[in-house]
Amino acid sequence: PSGAGKGTLARRLALELGFHLLDSGAIYRVLALAALDQHVALDDSDALCQLADSLELTFPFDANHTQICLGETDISARLRTQMVADAASQVAVHAGVRSALMALQRRQATAPGLVGDGRDLGTVVFPEAELKIFLDASVAVRAERRYQELIQSGQTVERSAILRDLEIRDVRDRTRPVA
Ligand code: DC
Repeated sequence: PSGAGKGTLARRLALELGFHLLDSGAIYRVLALAALDQHVALDDSDALCQLADSLELTFPFDANHTQICLGETDISARLRTQMVADAASQVAVHAGVRSALMALQRRQATAPGLVGDGRDLGTVVFPEAELKIFLDASVAVRAERRYQELIQSGQTVERSAILRDLEIRDVRDRTRPVA
């Protein structure tokens, strides 16, 4: 689930191994951000699929594997807001959207290797992965981690709002019928 530390672990493993990094949550966040910017409804599966097919997404190499660009614009910071996280969880429920984003994710698996993080990476995207790690933590610990992350990135947030938001997203992410 969100905030369990999978992003941090994946990034450090990728750096240590010299592998590429796939932050699949970021891909759902990019789609959500594009939908918000272009006023595409988050429950309009067909429009979201069209948008997913048109995304010009790149992951330019940087030492920390954190930069993500849409077209020419670095959108890394905008992806980490609560509004985008919530919207990402909403676009991710559509089966069509998930398959539209599948090829993009699989294309990242190139030599010398890939560390990928995300809920369905071991089950759906890369079922043949050599190593799968299942990571979990209590909602209180995850909320605290998210809170510290957001505060350090300069955002003004309430602890209680983060916790409530995580609980809502947990339910949505865990009870959807796909992936
Ligand atoms: O891991 P994250 O918080 O960056 O993910 C944001 C949302 O994207 C999450 O609430 C659910 C969705 N997501 C998904 O459905 N499948 C993935 N592999 C990654 C993220």
